[in-house]
Amino acid sequence: MLKAKIAGIGYYVPENVITNNDLKKYMDTSDEWIQERTGIKERRYAQRTGETTTTMGVQAATIAIERAGITPQDIDFIIFATLSPDYYFPGCGVLLQRAMKMKEIGALDIRNQCSGFVYALSVADQFIKTGMYKNILVVGSEKHSFGLDFSTRGRSVSVIFGDGAGAVVLQPTTNPNQGILSTHLHSDGESAEILAMYNPGTHANHWVQTPLANFDDAEIGQMFMSNAMVNEAQNFPYMDGPAVFKKAIIKMPEVVEEALLANNLTAADIDMLIPHQANLRIAQFVQQKLRLKDEQVFNNIQKFGNTTAASVPIALCEAWETGKIKDGNLVCLAAFGSGFTWAGALIRW
Ligand code: UT7
Repeated sequence: MLKAKIAGIGYYVPENVITNNDLKKYMDTSDEWIQERTGIKERRYAQRTGETTTTMGVQAATIAIERAGITPQDIDFIIFATLSPDYYFPGCGVLLQRAMKMKEIGALDIRNQCSGFVYALSVADQFIKTGMYKNILVVGSEKHSFGLDFSTRGRSVSVIFGDGAGAVVLQPTTNPNQGILSTHLHSDGESAEILAMYNPGTHANHWVQTPLANFDDAEIGQMFMSNAMVNEAQNFPYMDGPAVFKKAIIKMPEVVEEALLANNLTAADIDMLIPHQANLRIAQFVQQKLRLKDEQVFNNIQKFGNTTAASVPIALCEAWETGKIKDGNLVCLAAFGSGFTWAGALIRW
């Protein structure tokens, strides 16, 4: 039976290091609070111009493609996960296709925030297993720094996020001892608004409730302006941090256990868990719940912050590059975020 294997992996983070003390210039915060509550010491910010979610994705993809021993022209499908696209539309997939001079292949954008990469991996896995594609590029990339609220009002959100990108190339394998064993996807939209960025969006209630026929063009223009400007805070990501935290520490271990059960494995069989790097304390809760040893879990949020869709591939790549993941190892991915959506994957490396 065909399975999908990770044939190449790469990551890219911008050069610009932003420490917790750097953030103190803009908001009432402290290195002590950020490290104690999140584990983060520093994060990277992309160049304001010239460096975008797509260009970072290209950097990571270039490494992944080279390590897979192929060229960009061999890629036959692109899946790009991000919540911070270059444009509201079109998505980053086509921009990457253009930048890397790829063929006129399909390009799909995934909007699943922190679980976006694991969702993307799952979609790619299905295409490989059916034999539809042979070289799928999966990218997670984020440029958060362009749109965070750097005032004290936004401090609980802005201090955690960082920029960066990770990418993998998936190829088919018939080796029974290698490849993606299973993926597990979930959502619960009940709390969609507690971790969200509302604008730009078509959510404003007066648009929905008021028949347009009652207004002339000038009034509609004014409504549009007031809609966009109605609450400046709605132009930034909003998060009820403690509520998200409480749900994350339940759903992440749950999806790992689901994946283990589906494969007749136990937590002791995991060689490396790569949890979404949302908050070091969340990863520690997950580790505790699953009774994993320190050497079974990889975290790098301390250096890069929370890079949402990029966090899992960046951590996966760094763990592999530093020799913490070896051929034949059982690797588990788990992510949770806005939506809520959460997802897990088990991979025989
Ligand atoms: O990746 C997608 C999913 N996201 C997550 O999983 C994130 C989940 N949530 C979290 O990681 C944490 O909830 C945060 C890091 C966002 C916040 O940490 P917390 O320990 O839950 O803090 P809190 O929001 O309960 O705030 C505690 C106090 C408040 O002050 P008072 O009301 O107790 O006086 C906040 O105003 O800490 C204050 N605070 C800060 N102080 C200094 C909030 N942010 C900061 C800050 N610096 N940056």
